[in-house]
Amino acid sequence: MRHGVAWVIMRAEIDRPIGMFDSGFGGLTVARAVIDQLPNENLVYIGDTARYPYGNKSAGDVRGFAIELATSLVRDFNVKMIVVACNTAASVALEELQRTLPVPVIGVVEPGARALVRVTRNNKVGVIGTVGTISSRAYDRAIADTKASVSLIAAACPGFVEFVERDQTTGIEVFELAEKLLTPVRVSGVDTLLLGCTHYPYLSSVISQVMGPDVVLVSSAAETAFVVRDELAAAKTARSVESGNLGSHEFYSSGDVKHFAELGRRLLGPELANAKYWPNK
Ligand code: DGL
Repeated sequence: MRHGVAWVIMRAEIDRPIGMFDSGFGGLTVARAVIDQLPNENLVYIGDTARYPYGNKSAGDVRGFAIELATSLVRDFNVKMIVVACNTAASVALEELQRTLPVPVIGVVEPGARALVRVTRNNKVGVIGTVGTISSRAYDRAIADTKASVSLIAAACPGFVEFVERDQTTGIEVFELAEKLLTPVRVSGVDTLLLGCTHYPYLSSVISQVMGPDVVLVSSAAETAFVVRDELAAAKTARSVESGNLGSHEFYSSGDVKHFAELGRRLLGPELANAKYWPNK
């Protein structure tokens, strides 16, 4: 009997969802990787589209949004882990969230930095991100923490996120902006470029056109999903693969829910069947 009770408690624990948030659609790149790698996990995703973009807001504002979203994921959705699927928010709020929340909190900056130094062959690497991420210097610190001896060039790409949120990921306008912003990175001779904003993988065809075929683009999504997998395994809170129960996926948006569901489904795939309004769950 006691064993039965323990099993029920354990079951309830592992069935709790993973919580994830971003300013909008960008974190769906991380959600995709987590769903692919951990198909049995339940997931709750919030896109804060009413307040996007985060990249040009003050660090204090973004920290406030991150705390509000993460607190809601814990309080309203009982998540077992939080993934800050936004470089801008992770750059300024990760440590505080890790210190104050009662569940593990994972960011995208460190996993991305580790992947970047692993992939480079000439030890010249680049990172692109929002103005907020680049000016926080979070990547300089994360790269230094890897102890790899690489030289890093960082460039902010204001405007990229807005193109993605408008569903404009190809065409002359986005190409011209990419060429203007990325040329200094290309001429610096990097052989690897980290997409340090979770929106940017949706622009990878334009970015690789500008950077050329010899530059490898690295996204932090898959790497972050590996960290999620390992942390769940270490905490013994992973949902069992043998159960055959596929996870359920819930998506919330603080802005236009219809637009979020329509564009989100095209970007993420069929798991985003519909979206609900946050904060009214
Ligand atoms: N996807 C985000 C990031 O990784 C946020 C971009 C924004 O809202 O400006 O930084």
